[in-house]
Amino acid sequence: AIDISNLRDQTGFITLDKGYKNTGATQSGITFLDGEEGILRYRGYAIEELAEKASFLEVAYLLIYGELPTQDQLTKFEASIRRHTMVNEDMRKIFEGFPVNAHPMGVLSSLVSAMSAFYPDSYNDKLPDQTDLHIVRLLAKLPTIATWSYKKSQGHPVNYPKNSLDYCSNFLHMMFALPVEEYTVDPVVAEALNVLLILHADHEQNCSTSTVRLVGSSRANLYSSISAGINALWGPLHGGANQEVIEMLEDIRNDGGDVAKYIEMAKNAKQTGFRLFGFGHRVYKNFDPRAKIIKKAADDVLNKLGVNDPVLEIAKGLEEAALNDEYFIQRKLYPNVDFYSGIIYRALGIPTNMFTVMFAIGRLPGWIAQWKEMRETKDPIGRPRQVYTGSPLRSFVPITER
Ligand code: ACO
Repeated sequence: AIDISNLRDQTGFITLDKGYKNTGATQSGITFLDGEEGILRYRGYAIEELAEKASFLEVAYLLIYGELPTQDQLTKFEASIRRHTMVNEDMRKIFEGFPVNAHPMGVLSSLVSAMSAFYPDSYNDKLPDQTDLHIVRLLAKLPTIATWSYKKSQGHPVNYPKNSLDYCSNFLHMMFALPVEEYTVDPVVAEALNVLLILHADHEQNCSTSTVRLVGSSRANLYSSISAGINALWGPLHGGANQEVIEMLEDIRNDGGDVAKYIEMAKNAKQTGFRLFGFGHRVYKNFDPRAKIIKKAADDVLNKLGVNDPVLEIAKGLEEAALNDEYFIQRKLYPNVDFYSGIIYRALGIPTNMFTVMFAIGRLPGWIAQWKEMRETKDPIGRPRQVYTGSPLRSFVPITER
């Protein structure tokens, strides 16, 4: 119970809203989200339409600069991203120091943080005209860095980017091409990746985006702010859930595929500590529109690639059981974006420990757009208040008397 008298300090009353369930931290013109109706729009465009018709870099431009690019603008944007896909060889030396089993998210956030040291002009707030360059560098280099961990885990040499390819195909080339044989990107795989990245591109003031804004609100540079966002995304209650989902589905399969048993465990989450990963959302209380698109895409992609993944059936079984169960109905727990995305990533050949990295590549334009908006609207430094629950004033006790 909260002692209401604690809500007052010398400067007035304080609102206590743990987890910011009902507290707006900012005004934003980037993403519209209606959790009751299951609506998601970037800069006014429906997510369904963007996923069907746009390329990821078009959506990135839209989020960051506010309008869909003209052909000329897009060509220039893509060209400048291509020009920056290579990563400073000295960054490779830092990378070489990581152990082979380092989690790719730890590597990614560390190397993005290192970028602030490689580009010191980024912490000169008096050079706002450099911001576009930092934006392009991040968009260009994140996929390159992301593939290094995978290559190392396989004992393979890293691939340099191949700039004749589009953004998604280039990533797939850096992941899967080997120096000893020809590699051609499967257009089905590249298109599936394009859709997944678009669906993850922004989601207004979620945990990682709020982190980016909070860090950036102290006027910290873009690289440091994005690195903090990557770390926030890593947690299993946020972006890390996509890895947890596949591991959970695997566990259920190895345990005989008894979906009902796991539904029961989730219903007793408080005692068992087991949550159905990929279920529930802070804002969506009806359905997650991204999950709808991804569920359909999972069927399509697996069919087109001729992949038969038994965990897809387990996922569908869990969803159906949960949708008919009072516990989940009452709490409005529906599959979220992460429930089916891992199944697609797996079909594309992406290893499980890279799933959250894929989320980070997708979310990058959203983080950048939110950071830029915060700077441009001159939001004040973020500094939440607290309600003190500790000891009243007491006297120091010398160590010999404790
Ligand atoms: N499985 C079982 N029970 C759940 C689940 C779940 N996945 N999610 C919520 N609940 C229950 C809670 O135990 C709680 O029950 P109670 O009313 O009896 O106390 C009730 O539903 C409300 O849950 P909260 O944790 O209070 O909801 P909150 O909005 O704080 O959390 C969250 C949202 C973190 C997404 C939560 O639903 C969860 O942990 N889901 C699993 C992890 C996950 O999939 N995260 C990805 C989210 S999407 C994204 O970040 C991209």
